Amino acid sequence: MASQGGNWKDLVKAAEVGDLAAAKYHLQQGVDPNYQHPEYFTAPIFEAIRNNRLEVIELLVEGKYQGEKLLKSTLADPKLVEEMTDLTPIDLALEEEKHDIVDYLNTQLPPDAQWKPKHVLVTGGNRGIGKAIVEQLLRQGHVVAFTCRDADAGEQVLKELKEKTGNKKLQVVVGDLSSIKKVGAAAKSILEQFPKLQVLVHNAGLWPSECQINEDGLEMSFMVNYVAPLILTQQLLPQMETNGTDVRVVLVTAGLAIFGKADVTKTPLGKDFSRFKTYMHTKQCGMIWCLRQARLQQVSSSATPRVTFNAVHPGVIRTGLGASDGCMGFLLRLVKKTWKQPAEGAVAPVWLATSPEAKGIHGKFYHEMKLYELEGDAACMLDPTVQDEWAQWTQDFLARHNRET
Ligand SMILES: NC(=O)c1ccc[n+]([C@@H]2O[C@H](COP(=O)([O-])OP(=O)(O)OC[C@H]3O[C@@H](n4cnc5c(N)ncnc54)[C@H](OP(=O)(O)O)[C@@H]3O)[C@@H](O)[C@H]2O)c1
Repeated sequence: MASQGGNWKDLVKAAEVGDLAAAKYHLQQGVDPNYQHPEYFTAPIFEAIRNNRLEVIELLVEGKYQGEKLLKSTLADPKLVEEMTDLTPIDLALEEEKHDIVDYLNTQLPPDAQWKPKHVLVTGGNRGIGKAIVEQLLRQGHVVAFTCRDADAGEQVLKELKEKTGNKKLQVVVGDLSSIKKVGAAAKSILEQFPKLQVLVHNAGLWPSECQINEDGLEMSFMVNYVAPLILTQQLLPQMETNGTDVRVVLVTAGLAIFGKADVTKTPLGKDFSRFKTYMHTKQCGMIWCLRQARLQQVSSSATPRVTFNAVHPGVIRTGLGASDGCMGFLLRLVKKTWKQPAEGAVAPVWLATSPEAKGIHGKFYHEMKLYELEGDAACMLDPTVQDEWAQWTQDFLARHNRET
């Protein structure tokens, strides 16, 4: 535990306060940095992690001291398990959101013990639930990109979230999802700027307060809530499939989708537009698409598909969704004061996107963290005939669009 002037408790103290010279002294005196005192159940490296002392960690692990190597010392084992928590140093650094330490420890660990972050793209990450999803993914140590329509707003969010989370692995991709051409351009930018993506979170969404028809002749929320995720996925999936075996697509949908009555002859073109119902119809279209993709991916009932597709209702959350002026807008703002915060809405989408427990979950609809069975009228979303009718309509529309442009 110690020899001559060295003292284990003093080494722990040095690790805690970041006293590099004292840590060097005790190591040179032969104190074992892997010793876990029966009263403390910990070792110096864990205290250094808790207190964000990267230089001390480097000294403990590599015996490196301001450019020199210590001659006489036992080095800290980066795979040591702390008796108090059962965590290894990298587990603890992740839990403590010490991202620089995670990066450093990764360089000292064999490949099988390294932390392998997921590369996740979130659409509409500049505000609301999307921004909270990005923040939580960063806190967990993942590599994240988000789309945003406004380059300046995107840069501002980028700066804010890097500072707030200490994780610098964040990019913004400028992209608009309001027309077929713009979605194609966004997909191209994503592939160029974020080619390692493995997980796609379709979060951007629109509750329209008026009927707006886009340049393709499509009602705007139909475009954003349904056509955009469909085209983005089509264009990104081939690349995603080359980036690993745990490829996930998560659609942030709405509980209200179960009340939708989307009509293939009317909804796409806004012919049945309603301030209240169009959101439900178009969110339902998104879910029909998502559940159809899940069906097509499922080659057998037992095997986990290469790509998983799931839809999730984030909860009733206080964001700018459906905001409008006038009396309705005022009432909505009042009601929203009682709703949950975006961080709560991000929990289930983040869980489905990255958690080891959600690996292999496929073709499901979650209401926050609860699995929701689609029954009654809502079961139409699982009906292959309904799914294929929408797929056929969309394929024909896109083919016509491509011929004409
Ligand atoms: N809030 C809730 O209670 C609730 C409940 C159920 C489901 N959801 C779903 O959760 C998701 C996030 O909603 P939220 O509540 O966070 O809404 P929000 O605050 O209104 O944010 C919507 C996001 O979508 C983006 N977006 C909208 N139209 C777009 C377009 N044409 N092109 C690109 N991006 C576009 C927005 O970008 P801009 O900033 O550029 O407009 C923004 O980033 C949506 O899919 C929504 O349907 C929300």
